Amino acid sequence: MRFTVVTILPELIEPALAAGVVGRAREAGAIAVDTVNPRDFTSDRHRTVDDTPYGGGPGMVMKAEPLLAAIARAAAVSVPASAPDDAAAPRAHRILVTPAGTPLTQARVRELAALPHIVLVCGRYEGIDERVIELAIDEQLSIGDYVLSGGELAALVVIDAVARHVPGVLGEASSDEDESHSAGLLEYPQYTRPVALREPGGAELTVPAILTSGNHAAIAAWRRRQAIERTAQRRPDLFARFRPTAADRKLLPPALHARTHLALVHHPVTDRTGSVVTTSLTNFDIHDLARSSLTYGLAGYHIVTPIAAQRDKAAHIAALWIADAHGEHRARALALVRTAESIEAVIAEIAASHGTAPRVVATSARTGSFPGVARRAPEELRAEAGVDPAPLLILLGTGWGLADALIPSVSRMLAPIEGTSDWNHLSVRSAGAILLDRLFGR
Ligand code: ADE
Repeated sequence: MRFTVVTILPELIEPALAAGVVGRAREAGAIAVDTVNPRDFTSDRHRTVDDTPYGGGPGMVMKAEPLLAAIARAAAVSVPASAPDDAAAPRAHRILVTPAGTPLTQARVRELAALPHIVLVCGRYEGIDERVIELAIDEQLSIGDYVLSGGELAALVVIDAVARHVPGVLGEASSDEDESHSAGLLEYPQYTRPVALREPGGAELTVPAILTSGNHAAIAAWRRRQAIERTAQRRPDLFARFRPTAADRKLLPPALHARTHLALVHHPVTDRTGSVVTTSLTNFDIHDLARSSLTYGLAGYHIVTPIAAQRDKAAHIAALWIADAHGEHRARALALVRTAESIEAVIAEIAASHGTAPRVVATSARTGSFPGVARRAPEELRAEAGVDPAPLLILLGTGWGLADALIPSVSRMLAPIEGTSDWNHLSVRSAGAILLDRLFGR
């Protein structure tokens, strides 16, 4: 496989590819790397490759003509000298590395490794004349959401990542299989001798005992679990796309939705003046949130009010529908309804039934409420709570929202729901349904 780098700084490319895995692969002839310099395709005394942008603005833009000529020369390397002009010679795949490109992924890296010849075009300055992209670029790739001072380091990243998949480059055929991203998960932690490491003046760090147990099945299960947990903690975006196998499910806690409870809190909440009040029960809040809770497979729906008569009323409404012969489909939903005099009572009930206290998550329409509490996007909360066996309790406030100062049990806050207007007065039923869908919807 051949890589040709089009760059005005060829001296950046060569040394980085002389050593290590890529260096050995070049020596062995598994891959070849060369460079083409657009300055060699200029005709003026200064070998000018850049010019000021039309329309004004800071910086310089790489000129089209030298770059087009350099790309044409780079791509021509894939045409065997013996081929007739119109022969179906293997064509080079021309990639522009740019922060405006599509993010490079491991899946794309594998596909690129099957190509015979890749031309990597490196920009410098503010960018390149757009017509070069139209005329001579097949694909634009970014190596991450940050800006380098030129494409050379990005081109080196692409070469290194792709070369590892070219047959004969990595010693052991399987050694890229276990690695981070190959299976959509980050890699598990690795250890080597010594078994106990003592930092001067510090604690002794030992290798997890399971790795020295000799039990290969247990080691494989431990590693898999570590990979899943790491991915959940560090990369909620990858975790959201991860589909556990039947074997994975045995390593993980039960599905998060089945250990999630919703609480509709009538006290302590605030009114429009900020005073702490107790709101009164609303019939359709009981129905609609019970139906949402069943739709998303929750473990329970708790109506929280310190007023005994209101709790009786909620229990009575639920019981009416449970007993109604024609309300069968609602009966299942309303069977999720429980009543409690306080948030603390709900926490105690969940702790008793699950054997562990719940992780308590608050919701609010206001960005400033629950100051100091860690905020999570729904997919972040799903990843974090998905690998931790604790149950989840989501608090929904009635009135003008939860009275944050009076609810110290809250350890996480879900970011407020935002629509497209500045009018933000969703009913608690709607907000609850939207949050459940963001957390658990498929
Ligand atoms: N050139 C400058 N920054 C880059 C990035 N993040 N990815 C690819 N090419 C680049």
